[in-house]
Amino acid sequence: MDKKSKIQTDRLPKHLAIIMDGNGRWAKQKGMLRAFGHENGTKAVRQVVEGSAELGIENLTLYAFSTENWNRPKLEVQTLMKLLVSSLKKEIKTLQDNNIKLLAIGNLDELPKKARKELNEVIEKTKDNSRMVLTLALSYGSREELINTVKKISIKVKNNIISPENIDESVINEHLYTRNLHDVDLLIRTSGEQRISNFLLWQIAYAELYFTNVLWPDFTKEHLYEAIIEYQKRERRFGKTSEQIN
Ligand code: FPP
Repeated sequence: MDKKSKIQTDRLPKHLAIIMDGNGRWAKQKGMLRAFGHENGTKAVRQVVEGSAELGIENLTLYAFSTENWNRPKLEVQTLMKLLVSSLKKEIKTLQDNNIKLLAIGNLDELPKKARKELNEVIEKTKDNSRMVLTLALSYGSREELINTVKKISIKVKNNIISPENIDESVINEHLYTRNLHDVDLLIRTSGEQRISNFLLWQIAYAELYFTNVLWPDFTKEHLYEAIIEYQKRERRFGKTSEQIN
């Protein structure tokens, strides 16, 4: 039986998040520059976007650029920003044809003007699409998002819009960059590293974590299916006992 047919479509993760790691090492193994790894990483992005939409996953969030990534060599940062712009230009049609809505989370003001412009255009053009929400985390850091959330809520408290007693999980959720998205059900990280690296700290509270040694540019739909099959084997208890669940 092929892998895809082993997936139970009524028990899909609603929100899949991916830390795409290993582009640099993939290139190095081939004696190529890091930029070559990032270019090939965009092929894997296409695989997971298509694969997730075909399966019926509602939210897909990709960690494309962290706040810490600004510290990489200037040339590499430029390459990543150029790839973002060219991928957006190239993939707008795929997004439209597949009814996928694009969102971006992070400190987007930090992005170069050209990238911001292209991003805003695609976000605007795809805003009414409804099959899947694809979110790119760009210049994203979870602690920064949480600081931003606390600030927004504090201002509302100060202006008597929210009273402190009424602050609960839903109030926090509504003020995060990820408002309107489901909690993350499955988090995948490639390349053998087993870290969260400041990604969606609040949103992964109950997520299943899946680590694979596959380097990001080699990641295909088949690897995506493997991760989902593994996810479906796990018993998600949300703090309850096994008996309560079954
Ligand atoms: C991690 O590999 C990857 C990144 C920092 C960037 C991810 C970007 C892409 C896949 C391409 C552009 C994305 C979009 C959405 C168009 P690494 O460089 O940290 O690899 P290493 O750990 O082996 O050095």
